[in-house]
Amino acid sequence: MSRILVLNGPNLDRLGIRRPDVYGTTTLAQIEARLRARAAELGHELTFVQSNREDDLIRAVATGADGIIVNPAAFTHFSYALADALAASGAPVIEVHLSNIHARETYRRLSVVSPVARAVICGLGPAGYADALEALARILSPS
Ligand code: DQA
Repeated sequence: MSRILVLNGPNLDRLGIRRPDVYGTTTLAQIEARLRARAAELGHELTFVQSNREDDLIRAVATGADGIIVNPAAFTHFSYALADALAASGAPVIEVHLSNIHARETYRRLSVVSPVARAVICGLGPAGYADALEALARILSPS
């Protein structure tokens, strides 16, 4: 059994009501429920964290995990602190964005997290989290 940490950055607690034209109507609680169900099927332990504070996310990374799925939200674009914490964890990291950050405002096209990520999934909506979980499960338990 591997320990998988799913991290969500600022404003993702408002998924479902925040910019549904961009992020859809699925709530973070619904995403969490789907991931928990699939992680249980795969036999992995899942910890799900959302915070609007950089410090909370960095502390969550420091608690240790075998693999990390992270949607850093706006921290994507400037948090070298979170990127450093993820790199220091030594765990494989999959970065997820609901929207296609490359098709939006110019400032969203840069991710300071991507250089420390094993893979990046963006533009697939909530399915991106599920795809990240499948990928991480393959990385952690190669058949
Ligand atoms: C986001 C994209 C970010 O630019 C934005 O700040 C978010 C959500 C996404 O999932 O598409 O909060 O990470």
